[in-house]
Amino acid sequence: MLPVIVVHGGAGWIGKERAEGSCRGVQEAVLAGYRILQRGGSALDAVEEAVVAMEDNPMYNAGCGSVLNELGGVEMDAIIMDGKTLASGAVSAVKGIANPIKLSRLVMEKTEHLCLTAEGASRFAKAMGVPEVEEESLKTDYSRKRWVENLAPGSNPVESQMGKMGTVGAVAIDSQGNVASATSTGGMLNKMVGRVGDTPCVGCGAYADNLFGAVSPTGHGEAIMKVTLSRLILFHMEQGMSPEKAADTALEYMKTRVRGIGGVVVVNSSGDWAARFTSDQMAWAAVKNDQLHYGLYKGESFTLPVTST
Ligand code: GLY
Repeated sequence: MLPVIVVHGGAGWIGKERAEGSCRGVQEAVLAGYRILQRGGSALDAVEEAVVAMEDNPMYNAGCGSVLNELGGVEMDAIIMDGKTLASGAVSAVKGIANPIKLSRLVMEKTEHLCLTAEGASRFAKAMGVPEVEEESLKTDYSRKRWVENLAPGSNPVESQMGKMGTVGAVAIDSQGNVASATSTGGMLNKMVGRVGDTPCVGCGAYADNLFGAVSPTGHGEAIMKVTLSRLILFHMEQGMSPEKAADTALEYMKTRVRGIGGVVVVNSSGDWAARFTSDQMAWAAVKNDQLHYGLYKGESFTLPVTST
């Protein structure tokens, strides 16, 4: 099987000043994941590595760079799913760690549960020896500025969120034909304390099944949950649609049915892939057959050989 990996840096509108950094970040992330696949590594390791790269990059709403909640705090959600076994692990409203996606993997591999939240997730992180980080180290000037702007009377955090940036995620298929999906986010701008979005919910914030493929979405979490976006796309692929057609059909349904805007990266069990969105922009990158593809605006797709990047 030819390995494939596709990543996104969130659906939304990305200002000119952040466009280049956003595009560069997804390329670095996809290459970090692809190096694992090239060495014969697993799809699960590849998607985790790619998402860690974006959590560590302050450009994105995940890990360092997460949006702030109504009290100016950072509460993060993440999920990882293994298409071979349908095992998954997630954390929600977790604080004070750098890489929620790594903690999600530990939930999957070291507990009997699928999701740990808030205080419980922190206790588990401590028990696993995951280093605590200062909350301030996860904030950026940009996240603080947007938090203040959206405290203003009359501002609409949902519109503002969709107008700026979203979640990060990755899907992959490895040389064994195993698929995996991973998604991580700071959630919605100025969200209520304790708000849990789509990201840690199986079938919403991710889905992976070796029989059909893997999906990682981005966008307005409440809308994604209403249509169980990831599982809906897998369902369309089960019915014979290509990744691109399945993604477009499900995103259009979310838009017309619940007025939800978003984007997805998808790979199927044959290694066909898609990066699709109904927002103005979504930074995405994919590697297949040593070719790096990337884009930001609708209809945009550039290609470079991996060796020259
Ligand atoms: N899709 C990310 C969130 O709404 O939390």
